[in-house]
Amino acid sequence: MRDDFVHQPIVVATAPGKFILTGEHAVVYGTPAIACPVAGVHAKAEVYTANSGGITVDAIDINTQIRTNIDLTHPISLATNNLLQHLSVKTPPNFHIKLSSTIPIAAGLGSGAAITTALLKALAEAMGHKLATNELSDLVYEIEKLFHGTPSGIDNTVIAYAQPVWFIRDKTLQPMKCATPFDILIADTGVASETMRAVAGVRERYTQAITQYKAYFDEITEIGLQAKAAIETGSISDLGPLLDKNHVTLQHIGVSSPELDALVTAAKVAGALGAKLSGGGVGGNMIALVKPTAIKSVSEALTNAGATRVIHTQVN
Ligand code: PMV
Repeated sequence: MRDDFVHQPIVVATAPGKFILTGEHAVVYGTPAIACPVAGVHAKAEVYTANSGGITVDAIDINTQIRTNIDLTHPISLATNNLLQHLSVKTPPNFHIKLSSTIPIAAGLGSGAAITTALLKALAEAMGHKLATNELSDLVYEIEKLFHGTPSGIDNTVIAYAQPVWFIRDKTLQPMKCATPFDILIADTGVASETMRAVAGVRERYTQAITQYKAYFDEITEIGLQAKAAIETGSISDLGPLLDKNHVTLQHIGVSSPELDALVTAAKVAGALGAKLSGGGVGGNMIALVKPTAIKSVSEALTNAGATRVIHTQVN
């Protein structure tokens, strides 16, 4: 263990993972989406004082140390240096920051955005600044762009706010209130998929059939509006069929896969109230809305149908 880690951290900050409940892909074209934090998995940043060296970040999970005043092109350095500039801090403080995460990587659960969020929240606080949530979200978005090209901004938003959000690209955000908590299982197909490629595929098909795709996006808007109402009135049983419908629309726009469809079917057969792919699709994750009494059985059915990991989260 490094000497400085023997001491207590001066600040600890965490940020949750995320999943998309409705509206992925269409959100890139300006329609609303609902995203929720994933409780139980999080990124964590611990700030320790150091004697010299400026800000050094130890990314524990990938066994990498980033010296933010030397490794200038590393995304962690860019995030850190953007924050210093944003707060008009001319001389970087001497800090060691220990960064870790229990959020599965490259799984559409927002691990990258969560790591940047935890890092910036902790660092700002250690320098005596409390960032407003929208400020934090904007700073994280700058780093998201490095990885995802032109992301809609949904990941940084839901993770910075750490509560369900009704998100429309470039519009004022609405954090949502859940009248009744609901249970979601997030199951991974184990098939790696790059969101950027899935988004590019949709773009290609959209340009070939704009009218048809606009109709799909309208359908997704309607699903989102009804899902929002169901959540805000606590009519959770209404939410299930809406997720099913959203999955069908996502199949139409070409972002499902045999593996995703198999998990969606398995969840439904085992008694889920509704199920759909979640996030970029093509591979990656699906979600199932379940009654508390069905968490175990649906979870087992998903594993039996080939899910490589199932995470349970409650949205509230
Ligand atoms: O793959 P994820 O979970 O990061 O989701 C991306 C969501 C998209 O709508 C497909 C892209 C975006 O930028 O919003």
